[in-house]
Amino acid sequence: MYNGGKIIIGLAIFLGIATLPFFSNIGTAVKRPEPSLDTPVIKEVQAQLGRKDVCVEPKAFMQANHMRLLNEWRDSALRQNKRLYISSDGRKFTISLQNTCMHCHSNKKEFCDRCHNYMAVKPYCWDCHIAPKERGGQS
Ligand code: HEC
Ligand code: HEC
Ligand code: HEC
Repeated sequence: MYNGGKIIIGLAIFLGIATLPFFSNIGTAVKRPEPSLDTPVIKEVQAQLGRKDVCVEPKAFMQANHMRLLNEWRDSALRQNKRLYISSDGRKFTISLQNTCMHCHSNKKEFCDRCHNYMAVKPYCWDCHIAPKERGGQS
């Protein structure tokens, strides 16, 4: 093959460079961001109910499904004018991004953004919905 050797060496160098950032990321990629739950409202609700897991649904579900849940909330509010959500543990919530989710998660920067920046996701919701005034704890 004409010049085959050089092409293979060139390819090997190219692949080495192209995959370098991937390999050098292995150490850092396992470090998950830690979304902060330290807000006045979360503390209050936790104290009231005497438990930590006070999100609208269990944490594992929220991690995997909060975007779908938000879509369902939007559809139910806008298409069916239904604004009451009953969680799987029987609590009642008003269907609202601003007044429910962001009421508890008032620290958007240390919570939503911290995860989204890490995952390079950029929800466009805040083009219209008002982001909360930051009200996190000190940490
Ligand atoms: C009553 C306060 C409250 C409300 C309302 C609330 N959350 Fe939460 N949320 C929490 C708490 C507390 C946790 C941590 C739960 C745990 O540790 O079991 C949490 C966990 C989460 C997580 C997982 C975080 C992680 O560390 O992996 C996501 C995502 C989330 N919430 C999004 C939302 C969204 C979206 C809404 C609105 C649909 C919402 N939350 C409404 C208090 C709330
Ligand atoms: C183009 C503007 C716009 C964008 C972008 C947008 N929304 Fe909305 N959204 C609205 C309007 C207007 C309403 C209706 C408010 C009402 O009737 O209470 C609404 C209502 C909602 C509701 C139900 C009621 C409420 O007050 O929360 C949810 C949940 C919701 N949007 C979630 C989202 C999410 C999640 C995103 C991002 C993925 C998003 N929206 C992006 C304009 C927008
Ligand atoms: C535990 C990490 C984590 C936290 C905390 C978190 N998110 Fe997310 N979010 C993600 C990931 C990962 C995706 C992308 C998932 C996918 O594409 O399937 C996502 C996607 C979304 C989307 C869909 C965006 C799109 O373009 O598809 C919305 C809307 C959203 N998040 C809203 C929120 C809000 C509001 C909060 C804060 C109350 C929040 N998220 C907190 C990890 C998180």
